[in-house]
Amino acid sequence: MDKNRIQIFDTTLRDGEQVPGCKLNKDQKLRLAAQLEKLGVDVIEAGFPISSPGDYEAVEAIAKAAGDVTICALSRAVERDIETAAAAIKSARLPRIHTGIGTSDSHIKYKFNSTREKVIERAVAAVKFAKRFVEDVEFYAEDAGRTDNEFLARVCEEVLKVGATVLNIPDTTGYCLPNEYGSKIKYLVDHVKGIENATISTHCHNDLGLATANSIEGVINGARQIECTINGLGERAGNTSLEECVMIISQHPYLGFYTGINTKGLYPISRLVSDEMGMPVQPNKAIVGSNAFAHSSGIHQDGVIKKRETYEIIDPIEVGVDKSSIVLTARSGRAALAYRLKELGHDITKLELDTIYQKFLEIADRKKEVVDADLLGLMERKSELLSS
Ligand code: KIV
Ligand code: ZN
Repeated sequence: MDKNRIQIFDTTLRDGEQVPGCKLNKDQKLRLAAQLEKLGVDVIEAGFPISSPGDYEAVEAIAKAAGDVTICALSRAVERDIETAAAAIKSARLPRIHTGIGTSDSHIKYKFNSTREKVIERAVAAVKFAKRFVEDVEFYAEDAGRTDNEFLARVCEEVLKVGATVLNIPDTTGYCLPNEYGSKIKYLVDHVKGIENATISTHCHNDLGLATANSIEGVINGARQIECTINGLGERAGNTSLEECVMIISQHPYLGFYTGINTKGLYPISRLVSDEMGMPVQPNKAIVGSNAFAHSSGIHQDGVIKKRETYEIIDPIEVGVDKSSIVLTARSGRAALAYRLKELGHDITKLELDTIYQKFLEIADRKKEVVDADLLGLMERKSELLSS
């Protein structure tokens, strides 16, 4: 694998589906998995098979239907979990078991009432056990973001010795600052024997709004897989947003990284996930929000009408959005009004525009947004307005 190719590990169907109210049934999961494969993700985390019979069946069906994409199933460091995960993904062409355990002192003390040494033993045993079923075993060190680096490096080294192929370093609580998370990845690169033979993965949560920044910092420091979800869905404040990472990588080619994602599929899949989960996308969401390519202030509208690039760094077509939109409000200027009227088939003179614009502002002050029907109404009354 090219060392600059960033693997996209989508966990919409696992971490994303953990969001209250976002539970999917088997058919919905199958539909979304097919679209994720089409989008070009490298890994689909299809679910947590031990969690419920329904999730087991969904993961099994996704594994059966999948083509050339890795199908991953989550488990705790518990034999029954691992066996169940293995059974669910056994028909996948490229199966992966994702197993792991909390490594921060807080998890060790309060979740497990255990010790660091015992946690290493459990981590090693889980990876060894998973290797009985599949070659590709990803290990997660839960709460790695708050785990002491030296201990984290020890855990990683031990699981690598028994065959872990991917090391997932989750910032489970979304605590880290980007430089802190990046340094953690760099520390592992520099201190873990054998790490060059494994893929380092980021898995960041968005509790402080830093999930995307942290994932990119992780990649800059040596990670080659990003775990993320469509629309940034996930536990609490969510996971790293897939569309944001993919577009950051494509918009900053000098970083030297690329992904296998067909970016034109980003907006359609965002809508599909939102519809299937019944979870609206916030309008100002980067890349896929309804306002991501909408311009409403006069200064911006004037610029975009003259040259799109003045206020847009991404061509909307690149992410599957038809075109930028000009939203008419009381902050819009004459240029935007004339532009929209022309699109509606009304080419008016500069003098006419001055009068119509005053009437437009009266409507705009009354309404949040002036829509085409309002403009067509103005045009019907054009002669009357111009003569008054
Ligand atoms: O956030 C997390 O630590 C996780 C693990 C189970 C990978 O989701
Ligand atoms: Zn997570």
